[in-house]
Amino acid sequence: MNVSRNFMLLGSAFLIVGIVLGMYMGGSGDHSLAISHAHINLLGFVLSAVFALTYKAYPAMAVERLASAHFWLHFVGAVMVNLLVFLLLAQIITEAAMVPFAPISEFLVLLGVLAFSWNVVKNAN
Ligand code: HEM
Ligand code: HEM
Repeated sequence: MNVSRNFMLLGSAFLIVGIVLGMYMGGSGDHSLAISHAHINLLGFVLSAVFALTYKAYPAMAVERLASAHFWLHFVGAVMVNLLVFLLLAQIITEAAMVPFAPISEFLVLLGVLAFSWNVVKNAN
């Protein structure tokens, strides 16, 4: 897999959604979704872009199976986290309904970050 390109594509998709949500908040004056907007842009776009550039800067990291594991863990985890936070803040679901999905999705993101960090230790020379 071209992990760098995949992370850039994932990040760009998050950025489009994040900006549209920001524009909606600015236009409507309703900022209650600010935390959702922040995490779509930061966890979704900024982190994915940083990951993409890191895999580009250290090609030895990109060929590891750890890299594709990281991509899928971040993809599923970040999409789930952001979906749950959005649904909660939009008052479509309650906090109770987030269990066990929220901790599971957070652990997926964390596992991905652990795979990334271990890859950094091994290959970011
Ligand atoms: C056209 C693009 C954007 C628009 C119209 C927009 C609009 C907004 C609005 C209306 C808020 C709520 C402010 C508040 O109530 O405090 C907000 C918050 C925020 N935005 Fe954006 N935003 C945009 C792009 C971005 C991008 C690209 C990022 C990050 C890469 C970002 C990060 C944040 C963060 C972290 C907050 C939360 C700030 C806080 O309340 O602590 N935004 N944005
Ligand atoms: C799975 C990962 C993450 C979880 C579970 C998480 C959770 C949270 C929670 C619970 C809050 C407090 C929300 C509130 O005040 O009601 C928060 C705020 C915030 N987080 Fe995260 N976060 C995550 C990842 C990140 C990442 C990767 C970044 C930046 C790259 C980030 C940046 C922020 C910022 C800037 C705020 C303050 C936003 C504001 O007050 O408007 N978070 N996060």
